[in-house]
Amino acid sequence: MALAIRTQARSLSPEKQALREEALRGFAASPKAMSPKFFYDHRGSQLFELISQQPEYYPTRTEETILRLSAGAIAELAGRNASLVELGSGASRKIRLLLEALRPARYLGIDISREFLDICTRRLAADYRWLDVHALCADFSQPLKLPAEALGQRPLAFFPGSSIGNFDPSEARAFLRNLHQALPAGSGLLIGVDLVKDRQVLERAYNDAAGVTALFNLNLLERIRTGLDSDIDPRRFEHRAFYNEQASRIEMHLVSRQAQQVRIEDQVFDFAAGETLHTENSYKYTPGAFVGLAGECGFVSVAMWRDPAQLFSVHFLRRE
Ligand code: AVI
Repeated sequence: MALAIRTQARSLSPEKQALREEALRGFAASPKAMSPKFFYDHRGSQLFELISQQPEYYPTRTEETILRLSAGAIAELAGRNASLVELGSGASRKIRLLLEALRPARYLGIDISREFLDICTRRLAADYRWLDVHALCADFSQPLKLPAEALGQRPLAFFPGSSIGNFDPSEARAFLRNLHQALPAGSGLLIGVDLVKDRQVLERAYNDAAGVTALFNLNLLERIRTGLDSDIDPRRFEHRAFYNEQASRIEMHLVSRQAQQVRIEDQVFDFAAGETLHTENSYKYTPGAFVGLAGECGFVSVAMWRDPAQLFSVHFLRRE
């Protein structure tokens, strides 16, 4: 039995192996929880793209407007011939808003989803023939080693979308400290950060009427069902998202519709009716709280832009 399990584990791809370890750990935890980074298989990345087009999901379009309007100022701060390093390059759409104004010497896209990264960086290279495009498939929540040939003289790291909000504050510190280590002194960091705001606006953004966020959340169970040896049935769970004001975060959960047992490989997990698997936190910051956090990690605030309704912020920080 033990031999059969070891053989199976070894035959999984590194991505499935990581999913397997996280699912077994997270389903055994109390309360049950998994890291949101497991949302992003190919379908998950596509669903996230769709979320960003939903009318209720303000972060993407608001950040894009801020970037469009601030591109000139950002280019001045970044200087000529910068090397743009995009963390979580996704569809690489936001970077396009900066490329003409910035005219960087090179671009390095970093993403955990190999397939998506490959498609997006190839497209970018085809659309911007003057740009020297590099790609690195990596989990940037772990210590990063950036390739010297892609770093150049004046790195500007770009971390859009308030992805920093998906880290707990201690993980956000660890991420910023890793980045501080990976970048030379004087590098820029352009980072999008979602702001604390009215509960209704926040909760609507994570409960869109078309149900795309629900599909995105449930896709995590679909990944387990199809990628691992499991009898999990996503139809027996439902999406829940709410604002936890005390912790300043949206929480996403998958709620068990009934008392049930779920098998993953040779392990069986009990769910009570209404019990949840906590799948994501999305932290919201005030500008002051975020600048304070970045300062603790060796980044000083140079500039910050917000939309008129103060829904979203983009910070330009300098690595000390
Ligand atoms: C990627 N990240 C910043 C998104 C967020 O808003 O926290 C992920 C997401 N989850 C549900 N909707 C969007």
